[in-house]
Formats: sequence, C-alpha cells, structure tokens
Amino acid sequence: MMKYLLNQFLVNKVKCMAWLLVLWVQVFTARVSAQVFSGSGIIPKPVVELRQSGSFLIQKTTRLYVAGATKLSTSFFDQYLEDLSGFSLLRSNKAEPKGINLIVDAGLKLKSEAYLLDVSSQNITIKAIDERGLFYGLQSLVQLIRNEGKVITVPGYHIEDAPRFAYRGMHLDVARHFFSVEVIKKWLDVLAFYKINTFHWHLTDDQGWRIEIKKYPLLQSRSAYRNETLIGHKRANPHRFDGKRYGGYYTQEEIKDIVGYAAARQITTIPEIEMPGHAQAVLAAYPNLGCTGGPYQTATYWGVFDDVFCAGNEETFHFLEGVLDEVIPLFPSAYIHIGGDECPKTRWHGCPKCQKRIKEEKLKDEHGLQSYFIARMERYLNAKGKKIIGWDEILEGGLAPDATVMSWRGLEGGIAAAKLKHDVIMTPEKFLYLDYYQSLNKSEQIAAGGYLPLRKVYDYEPMPAELNAEEQQYIKGVQANVWSEYLSDASKAEYMIFPRVIALAETAWSAKAQKDYPDFLARLLANGRFLKKLNYSTAYYDIACESVDAAKGFKLSTDLPNAEIRYTLNGKNPGTTSQIYRSLIVIDKTGTLKAQLFKAGKPNGKLFEQAIVKSMASGKKVILNTAGQGNYNIDPQRLTNGIQGSYLYNSGEWLGLSGGDFEAIVDLGEEKTVREVGINTLNYQWQKMHPPKLLVVEVSTNEQSFKEVSRQTVFSQEGINSILHQLHPVQARYVRIKASNVGVIPDGFYGAGTKAWLMLDEIIVN
Ligand code: ACM
Ligand code: ZN
Repeated sequence: MMKYLLNQFLVNKVKCMAWLLVLWVQVFTARVSAQVFSGSGIIPKPVVELRQSGSFLIQKTTRLYVAGATKLSTSFFDQYLEDLSGFSLLRSNKAEPKGINLIVDAGLKLKSEAYLLDVSSQNITIKAIDERGLFYGLQSLVQLIRNEGKVITVPGYHIEDAPRFAYRGMHLDVARHFFSVEVIKKWLDVLAFYKINTFHWHLTDDQGWRIEIKKYPLLQSRSAYRNETLIGHKRANPHRFDGKRYGGYYTQEEIKDIVGYAAARQITTIPEIEMPGHAQAVLAAYPNLGCTGGPYQTATYWGVFDDVFCAGNEETFHFLEGVLDEVIPLFPSAYIHIGGDECPKTRWHGCPKCQKRIKEEKLKDEHGLQSYFIARMERYLNAKGKKIIGWDEILEGGLAPDATVMSWRGLEGGIAAAKLKHDVIMTPEKFLYLDYYQSLNKSEQIAAGGYLPLRKVYDYEPMPAELNAEEQQYIKGVQANVWSEYLSDASKAEYMIFPRVIALAETAWSAKAQKDYPDFLARLLANGRFLKKLNYSTAYYDIACESVDAAKGFKLSTDLPNAEIRYTLNGKNPGTTSQIYRSLIVIDKTGTLKAQLFKAGKPNGKLFEQAIVKSMASGKKVILNTAGQGNYNIDPQRLTNGIQGSYLYNSGEWLGLSGGDFEAIVDLGEEKTVREVGINTLNYQWQKMHPPKLLVVEVSTNEQSFKEVSRQTVFSQEGINSILHQLHPVQARYVRIKASNVGVIPDGFYGAGTKAWLMLDEIIVN
C-alpha cells in the first residue's frame, strides 16, 4: 500500500490527496477502528491463545483418536466435518502423532469445563478433565477451521481456556409466545457453540401454561390457551385484540426430548414454574386456587395481574406439589426455578384465608406471606433433592434458607443476596433483557421497552464492585432473558436474541481483561458462517447521531468498517451522490436529518432518520433545580440538544425524577421576545412514568424575579405529551419551567402507591 501511495504521489499529487482523504474519512466515521480481529477469532475469547507456526491440514486420511470420552461429545465434530467436507474421519485406537487426539483424563490439572487445545502442522490435541471441557475444546476447534474449497486447514495455536463463570445462561419465555421443539433445538445448537451451559425455560405465566401435567388435565385444555392476543404495544390505549385462540404446550415426551438434546450439548435445562404471581392461566382452569374464586381467564395481554395463587388456601400448595411431582423427574437439573417475581399483594390483602394465614403464622404482612409461600415450596423441593432459584423479589419479607437469587430489577437484589451468603445469578434488565430494542431506528420490530444495543450488553460487568472478594464468590454467573410478549414468531425472536446473546456468552466465559468490544465485533463478523442460518440483527452498525452542541453541530458515526455515511437535510433519502459525512453537521432549523451507510458504493443497512428540533433554546445553558435520578440523571444540556426523547425511555434523552418535581431555567443569553414555550413529558404507566399534575411557565429578564406566563393542569394519560404554550409576546432572557410530579402512583395504575417518575425532554422556546 505504501509503495502504491508513493508511486501515486510521484505520478499525481492530487489523486493521492484524495486517497488520503478517503482514508481519513473512514477513520473519522468509524467508532470501532479494529476491522481485523486479533488472535484466533474464537468467541468467547479464550484465556490464552498463542499462534504457533504452520497449520494442520485435515484430510480424508486424517485419523482421530478419542480417549475417555463418550461418542456424544465427538459426534458433533464428526457431523461438522462431514457437512464441511463430505468425509468422516477414520478412528484410531492409539494416540496419533500425525492426527487428531481428543483426550478426557480426570487426572489432568485442569478445572471442570476447561480445555487445552494445541494445533501444530503435525497434529491437533484437545485435553480436558471432563466431557464438558472436551466439548468446549471442540467448539473452539470448529471456529479455528479455515476452509477454502475442499481444503480444510487449522492454523497452529496453543490455547488454554476455562470459563470465568460456572453459570452461563439464556432464559426463554414460551408462555407469551410458544416456540416449537425444532426451533428450540436450533437455538440450543447456537448457545452450546458459544459455550452457554444453562437453558432457563420459563414454562408458565398468565398468558399460557406450557408443560403437560397429567394429574391436572385442565392445564392442557384450558390454561394452555388464551382466547385472543393483544395487537401492538401494551401501552396502546385502548387495547385491540386479534380475536384468535392461541396456545399449545409441550408434552412430557417433548420436554424430555429437549432436555436430552440440551444435555448432549452440555446445557442444563432449568424449568421455571411461576408462583405465587403470574398464575392467571392456572386460575382460569382451577378458580378455587385464587383468593376471590374467579371467574378468571387466561390473560390476553401483557402485564402484571392482581389475581395470584391464594396463599391462605391449602389446596394451592397441594396443587403446586402435584405439579412439581411431575416436573422433577423430567429435569435432572439440581435447580427448579419457582418465579417469585411481580406478585401484587392486593388480593391477599383483602382475602380472609390469606389474612388468617398471616395471623396464624405470625407474619408481619403480605411480604411475610410471600416469604412463607416461597420458603414452604423450598422445603418441599429440598425434600425431593432439588434447590430453588427465584427472581429477586424473593428477598422481600425474608429470603428462603437456601435459595439462589436471580437479580433482574437491578444489581441491588444480587448484592443483597450475596451479602447474605446466597448464590446469585446476575440478569439485570437494563443490561441483559433481550426483549429491549437494540436499535433506535423507527423501523424496528415492536419490542418491550427500553434501549439495549449490543455494545451495552457486551460492556456489562457482572461482578458488582460493592462486594468484597469473599462476597463475590456468591456471584455464580450471568444470564440473558428473552421475554416473548412481542416475539410472535421464531424469526422475530431470533432477531432479538442474536447476536446479543453471543455478547453475553463472551461476558460469561471470557476473562474480564480479555474483553474488547471492537475486537469482539470483528470476530463476530468473521463468524458469519455460523450465524447465517439465523435471522440475526445487524443493528450494531446503526448510524449513531450525537448532538455535540448547538453551535458545533451533530456527529454521525458507525461501527461498520470501511463504510461512508451520506446524508441529507432536505427530507430526501440519501443516495450515492448525497453529501458524504466528514465533519460535524451544523443544522440551523427544525427538520429531519437522514443518513445512509454506503459500502463499496452500495447502500448498507437501514435508512437513518432523526428529527432535529431547533428553537431559541437550542444549545442554551440549562440550570436545573434538582438533578435527574437513577438511569435518568442525564446531562441537563440534553434538554436543549435538538433531539427529543422517544418511547425508548432509557436512550439518554429523558430526564427523570422519581417522586420529585422538575424546575429548569433556560438562559437565552440575551433578552428576546418569547412567543412560545414547550417541553415534552413521557407518560408510560408500565414504567411508572406519569404526566405532571401541574406545569407552569415563568419568564424573567434578570434571573431574580420571575413572572408566570402560562400554566397547564390537564394532560393526556398515555404517550408523549408535546406541551407547547402560546404566550402573549413577552421580553425575557430566562425561561423557567416548573412541573409538579403526581408523587405517588394513583390507584388503578401499575405500581400504585409507589413513587411516580416524571420524565421530561427538550425545551423549546420561540
Ligand atoms: C421478570 O422480568 N419479571 C423477572
Ligand atoms: Zn387468599
């Protein structure tokens, strides 16, 4: 390349300068500079990998020696080679100095699941102390194979590898939408390939019961079906339904089939049978198990429902024990997950049986009753040789003696449980819920909630810094959760799962020091041949837009290597002749910034569109009375950055206040005539986000004495409120907006009685 550039320089200086400009543009626009991965390319990144000279040629005549392993682990390798080459390797009954040697030897100094992989020009050797280790060594070997035509080569490597966490999981909700045995097997193949070892199977919920229980036939005929399903997002008001009966369940034979298929791939399947909440489908069939006696119906939309198992009724426990008696023999796993999350206490509060139980058992309150429920089920399961896992709500009212806690609402549950010396699986919603959007693009398929791009999944560090070394021992692993409310078919689910679960796999397996997002992304691209059977998302290339500041302009970037970004400001879709993005784009009026990636002259990925709002407030200094809280403690300048917050409430645009009021002053820099003042609020009851009860606009010329110029007391309940007040023209330098939080969430809304969030973004002054 240098020689070429030098020649060009001598021949044609101008042409050379253009070349350099192209290179510079590429460097400027790429967020990720590594386009070629370092090392072996294996995902998850091995602990140690050293390139050795030469490479090994796998041929028809290559012999395979297997010691100490069953056929199970090696059959995948056989199959893989056969698919690739059409031949299968000849077996040898002795070690092969010029072949492939797969050795399981409990006497080696290795940990469970660890492996050593050596590839030289002479031979390939994998060593492990257990089949799991050998299996993982083989997955790495498969990723090392380079095949060009019929020639299969493996570059020389010395690899020493072992997992960081013993528990590496993916959860799948089959209650909201049902996935076939074939589809689950296909996904298990991919999970195993990336060294995930636990499949958490969420089998029961309000919207459907999915496991055959012979003792209770109505679970099959009634609880497994719902009359219809919500169309669109649950935040829509009013709800619309499709009018179609939906459901299904796995027979016990099918369950055994999946569990066996997973086990053959070194994956443990943990079933989840939800209690005491998320029980509406059961109550539809067995209404006597609810506090009010019903009638109930299998839920047809998504949410958290008040009707739960009655904790005062002995029949509830007999029923659940009967269910578990059939579940236990199907799952060799040491653990059974019993849910425990999102159990409203409303019905228990008003139920004579539940109240009697609270009194008789000398429980403090309904949280104590939940704790009683979980601990009682734990005793039952312990007596059958099983341990329980529950969502972090099982901490409330006192943790069952030997329970493992899945920390989903945040990190706090996991931290608290580890301090109590309980095992913990970290699965925080904010980082590991794959039902979140992975792209800000408006054309994305409908999804549950917030924004969780691939990089954020990858960058999640599971070990809470708040724990000391002794407490950290209790963090056993990490898991990504796949809730299926909006995953109405397998293709939609795949799009959400992949590649984000692969990022989780690297977090779960690889040493912290080995992690490197640009390198991961480069390896992911090179992994294309394994991903191509999946409908996986490439949202990680999405053009990102950042408002650097009103005067300097907007920055566009992408992680797609060797791509150029072309953009327009006139509303037209960018084409091959549109402006190339080279430096910050200064935008001086409200409009739409559209951009498109181009690679080798061809459009790549989705059209990017961003509405830009410009007003006298744009880029002007914002003085907040109270900073935002939690995830919504954003830079106050985001309130005048030209980009309005969307339904993706955690994309960094919304400022949020939990229970508290908002007060912001915008300094226009000089006195101006003000005719219009606006701000948006986000009302999204499922995220506990409510409109203000009062919004007041005031103006001042001196920042000391303010005069009220408008107020509003009525707001729409759901959605984005675009508040825009027309004023009698008034001279002002300072504009103050005050919004009063409703404080406590009113009855009838999700989370009633707890603090409401007040969410605000983008102040407009004209
Ligand atoms: C959960 O997401 N409700 C565990
Ligand atoms: Zn009750």
